[in-house]
Amino acid sequence: MTILDDPSRLRAADPSGMLGTVLAFPSQLAEAWAQAIARPIPRPAEPLAHVVTIGMGGSAIAADLAGAYLAQELRVPLITIRDARIPPYVGPGSVVIATSYSGETEETLAAAGAAIASGAHVLAITSGGRLADLVPGTVLRVPGGLQPRAALAYLLGATLAVFAQWGLAGSCAADVDEAAAVLGALAAETAPSIPAPRNPAKRLAESLCGRIPAVYAGGATLAPVARRWKTQFNENGKTLATWDVFPELTHNEAVGWGASPDLAGRLAAVILLAGDEDARALRRIRVARTSGLEGAVAGVHEVSGRGAGRLARMLSLVLLGDLTSVYLAYLRGIDPTPVVAIDRIKQGMRDP
Ligand code: PA5
Repeated sequence: MTILDDPSRLRAADPSGMLGTVLAFPSQLAEAWAQAIARPIPRPAEPLAHVVTIGMGGSAIAADLAGAYLAQELRVPLITIRDARIPPYVGPGSVVIATSYSGETEETLAAAGAAIASGAHVLAITSGGRLADLVPGTVLRVPGGLQPRAALAYLLGATLAVFAQWGLAGSCAADVDEAAAVLGALAAETAPSIPAPRNPAKRLAESLCGRIPAVYAGGATLAPVARRWKTQFNENGKTLATWDVFPELTHNEAVGWGASPDLAGRLAAVILLAGDEDARALRRIRVARTSGLEGAVAGVHEVSGRGAGRLARMLSLVLLGDLTSVYLAYLRGIDPTPVVAIDRIKQGMRDP
């Protein structure tokens, strides 16, 4: 029997319970949204020029996902920054959302400090730490005690509530409700009790084990979803992975499929589809598959988002990727939770 279908071995492989946290994504999203939307978030008096989000890693991705989901209805530009520095256009009229789950991330603290000094209206989304003390304005607190990447639903729910409350996009309420329901059904289908032959996350993890996943978003909306898959393979699966996005990748990455077979053959491609791609987009993906990708890499897998709304489609893919990355860790005999390399680098930067 594969380890993935052996409950006692699974429990031993995951002492901190990462899988349980991932499976709680649907309820976390509903809870985070309900709490954040119920609490009034004071809006600055002056007209808003733009919203700038700052954050790193598992905290930054929440803003990316919010931006992609709201892209067609945003009433002001949204810029995501993963850096310690902010651009000179940030100042009065800017809204800056500083997101750091721990509240202790060096780059986010530096950028938030610079944003405050610039006169921008700064909010924080955090479980605490120095960021909560630094920001004089609204601090949206999320529950502590998780790995930052496992708190995505909380960070996303709080981010969406800012846009919805301030009328910067439509009401997200119906979409969040649908996403929570769709994700709940997907979590039931991919739970550890569902055997590998009927469990899409376990099957995909088995196909990717021993390969370098190359995660390709079927379109721009799914770019942050592909990035999330890549980073979850890194942090949960402790493996290398890459990501790119159609149609852009057909203008560069596709040439790389011509690398020597011992290099390209280490990759396994995962193409993410939202389910609402138009005929030209699907044709481009098909042409790319048959004219180069399939002959180069070890396997090509396509997965589709579920649900009617964009948020459900995006987040069902996020959940499937998160689960796949945890099952991959189990197959590799690795605890999905610790991220020793990240901790070591952060410590190295704190040392005198
Ligand atoms: O997933 C992780 O642990 C990292 O990518 C962190 O999110 C990143 O180091 C930033 O930390 P924080 O999210 O606490 O600001």
